[in-house]
Amino acid sequence: ASITVLAPATVANVVCGFDVLGFALHEPNDVMKLRLIEQPGVVLINDDEFNLPTEPTQNVAGAALLAMLHAIPEPLGVEVRIRKAIRPGSGIGSSAASAAGAVAGLNYLLGNHFSKPELVQFAMYGEEVASGVRHADNIAPAIYGGVTLIRATTPTPDIVALDAPPLFVTVVHPQIEIKTSDARKILKQEVPLRDAIRQWANVGGLVAGLLQHDYALIGRSLEDVIVEPVRSILIPGFQDVKEGSRIAGALGGGISGSGPSLFMLSQDEATARAVENVMHATYQRLGLDYLTYLTTIN
Ligand code: HSE
Repeated sequence: ASITVLAPATVANVVCGFDVLGFALHEPNDVMKLRLIEQPGVVLINDDEFNLPTEPTQNVAGAALLAMLHAIPEPLGVEVRIRKAIRPGSGIGSSAASAAGAVAGLNYLLGNHFSKPELVQFAMYGEEVASGVRHADNIAPAIYGGVTLIRATTPTPDIVALDAPPLFVTVVHPQIEIKTSDARKILKQEVPLRDAIRQWANVGGLVAGLLQHDYALIGRSLEDVIVEPVRSILIPGFQDVKEGSRIAGALGGGISGSGPSLFMLSQDEATARAVENVMHATYQRLGLDYLTYLTTIN
C-alpha cells in the first residue's frame, strides 16, 4: 500500500494569535509519498534540492513518524519520499508540512487508526526538532485545513476548527534568514496587563469576525501589540508592505509565523493582486530577492 500526500503551507499566529491561531494555504504544498516496508523503522528519501537530514531523529518528518510508530505495539516500517515545495525557513510552516503530511499519510496507511488530535501530538515532535518548541499553530491547520484555534496543547491538543468566509492571501517571502528559535528568544517574557487586554480582545474579535463572516471586524482585529513590535524590526520592508497593503484595500496582515514571510488578507482577488504589487515594489526598491504567492485559505 502507498499514498501520496499534499502537505500545505500554513500561516501561524494570524497577527494577534501568537501560538494559538493558524490557517492552511491552498498552495504551496509539499508532495510526500509513503509506503509500508518490511524493515521496521523510518526510511527517508529527499526528492528536492534542500539537503535536509535523512537520519529520522534529525528530520521533522522522521521524528514525527517515530513518535507515531512508538504508539503502535507491533513493529512497523515506513518509507517516505519527500519533495518539498515549501522552502525551509520561509515562515510558512515548512517543518509543520513535513511533520503533518508524514503522520497524516501513515495514518491513512494504518486505516485511520489515530484521531486528528493524536496526529497533532505526534507531529509536534517534528516541530520540536525544527525549533526546539512543540507549538501546534502550523501543525493543526496543516492537519485540519482551514483556520484553527489551538485552545491548548497540554495535556492533549484541544483544537477548534473555525469556519471562515472566503479570504485571499498574499504572501511575500523576502530571502533573509530568521530562525524560529532566535525569533522566540528576543520576545519579552512579561506582558503589561493593558497589552494583554488589547491582545485577547483582538483574538476574540478575529474569531468572531471569521465565524460571522464579518470582514470589517476581521480587519480591525488584525492587530498585534505584543509580538509584532519586537519581531518586525528583523524584517526589511515590513512597514512599507503593511501600510501599502492597507492603502491597496487589504483587510490587514503581518508576519507569517516567526517570519521572514509577511502575509496580507483580502476580501477579493483584485485587492490581493494590488497587494502583491505593493510587495513587488517594496522589495524591488530594497534590492532584496523575494518570492510571492497569491492564494486562498484552504
Ligand atoms: N507561533 C510560532 C512563533 C510559529 O511565532 O514562534 C513559528 O512558525
